[in-house]
Amino acid sequence: MERTLLIIKPDAVERKLIGEIIQRVERKGLEIKALKMENITVERAEKHYEIHKGKEFYNGLIEFITSGPVVLMVLEGKDCISIVRHMAGSTSPVDAVPGTIRGDFSMDTLRNIVHTSDSVETSTREIKNFFKNID
Ligand code: CMP
Repeated sequence: MERTLLIIKPDAVERKLIGEIIQRVERKGLEIKALKMENITVERAEKHYEIHKGKEFYNGLIEFITSGPVVLMVLEGKDCISIVRHMAGSTSPVDAVPGTIRGDFSMDTLRNIVHTSDSVETSTREIKNFFKNID
């Protein structure tokens, strides 16, 4: 069964959207295999976003994702990587369609409410980075 990492980012936690996002996940029928709230360390954030190192938004991205608590979830279900990506919506607020999480709640490319894994390879790596003891 496929797994994906969903991060509810500091902007969404601050705006009290945790319940709204978890409700969407549960209503869709996804299985929550693990869930925790924590402040991401700079070291772990840099590992998570290593493919973006060198891009003009990288420093701001690390600063943002470590700026306050986040909620991290491992979700499981058939084809859940692409299902959760569709639920999240496009990174750009211009393209994020209403009905998606970003389409409904974000006007900003950086502060965009959630992160979701984009492939089987990255989901495995990302889950390992945040959940050491998951089977
Ligand atoms: P995420 O899905 O977590 O993956 C990388 C993150 O970088 C993305 O969500 C945004 O928060 C941020 N990001 C991507 N592109 C840009 C951009 N052009 N400007 C600012 N932030 C960006």
